[in-house]
Amino acid sequence: MPGLQARIVLRWQVPKRGYDVASGEVTGEEYEGFRAFLAESCGIVLGENKQYLLTTRLRPVLEEFGFASLHDLLEHLRHGVGLGLRERVVDAMTTNETYWFRDGHPFDILATTLLPELQQRRCTMPRIWSAACSSGQETYSISIVVQDYLRARPHAFPGDVQVVGTDISPTMLEKARAGVYYKSELLRGLPAELRERHFRRHSGGWEVAPRVRARVRFLDFNLLKPYTLLGRFDVIFCRNVLIYFSSESRRDILDRMAKVLVPGGYLILGASESLSGHSSKFQMARVGGGILYRLRESPHPRG
Ligand SMILES: C[S@@+](CC[C@H](N)C(=O)[O-])C[C@H]1O[C@@H](n2cnc3c(N)ncnc32)[C@H](O)[C@@H]1O
Repeated sequence: MPGLQARIVLRWQVPKRGYDVASGEVTGEEYEGFRAFLAESCGIVLGENKQYLLTTRLRPVLEEFGFASLHDLLEHLRHGVGLGLRERVVDAMTTNETYWFRDGHPFDILATTLLPELQQRRCTMPRIWSAACSSGQETYSISIVVQDYLRARPHAFPGDVQVVGTDISPTMLEKARAGVYYKSELLRGLPAELRERHFRRHSGGWEVAPRVRARVRFLDFNLLKPYTLLGRFDVIFCRNVLIYFSSESRRDILDRMAKVLVPGGYLILGASESLSGHSSKFQMARVGGGILYRLRESPHPRG
């Protein structure tokens, strides 16, 4: 029906502060405006008919900054007005679902294949990147695996292992850095035995033990920006984030990840993600029930 897509009307509740929160309308033009803003600022592709995502996720931003409508918000974004506004909108629009030892296999592979291989290669201080780490569960799961590996082999890596968690969401990074989780969050994937050994009770829930935290660093980082300052990595976990990007951004991110991996380094994707058609720089390997990608040894220009 002509015009149907152009004006989709979603009704919101009467706003608490008494201003007209957009009267709940997302016009086709506004929708396109937010799509373009998100694609350009963080690579997220807002699919068709996701108007409800805009209205539900941006409502708190409208209230916080005192905007009357999505139209007002978009205008301010376009003209670069509002301190921290762009970051706040990106933060609100990201999907941050995560949990401990998600999908199992990557962490088994780390323990049984990757750490032994790095030890055998006499790597003195392996570096592992948890790209798009959300609230830190993936990053700390990696550090727990390393901790248990080193318990049995205290001299495996003279410089220990560095684990770097990065994300674009300041809210998620704040939680990750705090390292304190509610019991309900720990119940999502963390075996009780690991909780007893690697966490201690805290007024707000459970806190990651200092020895697990000590090797972890969290950085605010947009995967669309240059990677050079991050240094080189032996292993990259890049899981459940590429699905939100366009094919072009995926290819670009994978190319740049290849450049910061050491020769023969490993890339691990999410269970529903694959490299198919996006990069020829990696070779797929099956280990146990999991899949990982090894950077081909041919030299690449670094940068
Ligand atoms: C679904 S979570 C995945 C978390 C974790 N890797 C896992 O698999 O459980 C996706 C994360 O990607 C982050 N993200 C989205 N776009 C990003 C970008 N351009 N740069 C960095 N992080 C981004 C989001 O903030 C979110 O925390």
